Amino acid sequence: MSGVNIQGLSIKFGHNEVIKGLDLQVHEGEFLVLLGPSGCGKSTLLHSIAGLIAVSGGRIHIGGRDMTEAEPSERGIGMVFQSYALYPTMTVEKNMSFGLRVAGTPKAEIARRVDKAARMLQLTPLLDRKPAQLSGGQRQRVAIGRALVREAGVFLFDEPLSNLDAELRRELKLLHQTLGSTMIYVTHDQVEAMTLASRIVVMKGGVIQQIGTPAEVYETPANLFVAGFLGAPAINLVPATVAADGVSLHGALPLRLPAGKVGAGQGVVLGIRPEHLRLQDDGRWRATVQLVEPMGNHQVVWMTLGGQGLSALVHDGRRVAAGDTLAFDLDESRLSIFDAGSEQRL
Ligand SMILES: Nc1ncnc2c1ncn2[C@@H]1O[C@H](COP(=O)(O)OP(=O)(O)OP(=O)(O)O)[C@@H](O)[C@H]1O
Ligand SMILES: [Mg+2]
Repeated sequence: MSGVNIQGLSIKFGHNEVIKGLDLQVHEGEFLVLLGPSGCGKSTLLHSIAGLIAVSGGRIHIGGRDMTEAEPSERGIGMVFQSYALYPTMTVEKNMSFGLRVAGTPKAEIARRVDKAARMLQLTPLLDRKPAQLSGGQRQRVAIGRALVREAGVFLFDEPLSNLDAELRRELKLLHQTLGSTMIYVTHDQVEAMTLASRIVVMKGGVIQQIGTPAEVYETPANLFVAGFLGAPAINLVPATVAADGVSLHGALPLRLPAGKVGAGQGVVLGIRPEHLRLQDDGRWRATVQLVEPMGNHQVVWMTLGGQGLSALVHDGRRVAAGDTLAFDLDESRLSIFDAGSEQRL
């Protein structure tokens, strides 16, 4: 088992700096998820940890050793690639054992590791099949198995479950609980990130925006980008201007903000999670229902108030229809307040 310590990492392709002075400490045994939109540098960061691309600046330590210039095979990592292409002519067993055979691992040891990984991933009955005879999910399991047999201290996963079922996700989490290895997992899917991670690293344009537990990044997003990236339905963002008294807000949602946080005339954006809007008859605001989405165990109610769209979650089974006027309220202590200019949390 090993942690990973990245300091001042810079990666350039020509003049394009894709990773910009990035610092990151991955704790031993944690499940760290790198989350961000397409092109933000997630795969590039992972490839640099694996030693597949040269760094332009900075250091990478794995298990306490400086591995910045080490060969991929020396780094003690197992990796599942974004394009996890299996060798089509090889059986599942041969696909899983390929790396070990190339490395000259003794036959009995290869058999032990493949057997163990196959059992963990429920691949044992499929070991003699070729990739073409497998479902998409089974192929993804083989790609994970190929990394697991390395019995490495650090596993790197580049979107291995994209478009995959929640069940395999739970299996991977159980696998991590069993193995206790350090795992760094890349995804652009916030549900995957929330459900798998010990900690989430939110990235944008090669720069870390926030690092925290799923609860921390969800409940106290560091900036507008993080607020908008996590949560479905998305957080309600309500622009407002602070009144002359320095605490009250004009506009669609007149309310009072904590004194000292904001100043008179300051432009702010309120971040309100849909689950924090409470429908209640004596609520301070009235909004018109535009659209209702039944979700089975709850409803998503889309409303408008003075031109501002707002979504709310309703769990109590009441009947709500388009055109209804609903009274609602919110708990100010659950608000996120961002500066409209810097977009940072206040
Ligand atoms: N070999 C390369 N040469 C030049 N530019 C590259 C190279 N690899 C990646 N890039 C660029 O670096 C940026 C980051 O790419 P990267 O693959 O790391 O993104 P990503 O976050 O993994 O995105 P996705 O979610 O789409 O996989 C992109 O703008 C990409 O075009
Ligand atoms: Mg990628």
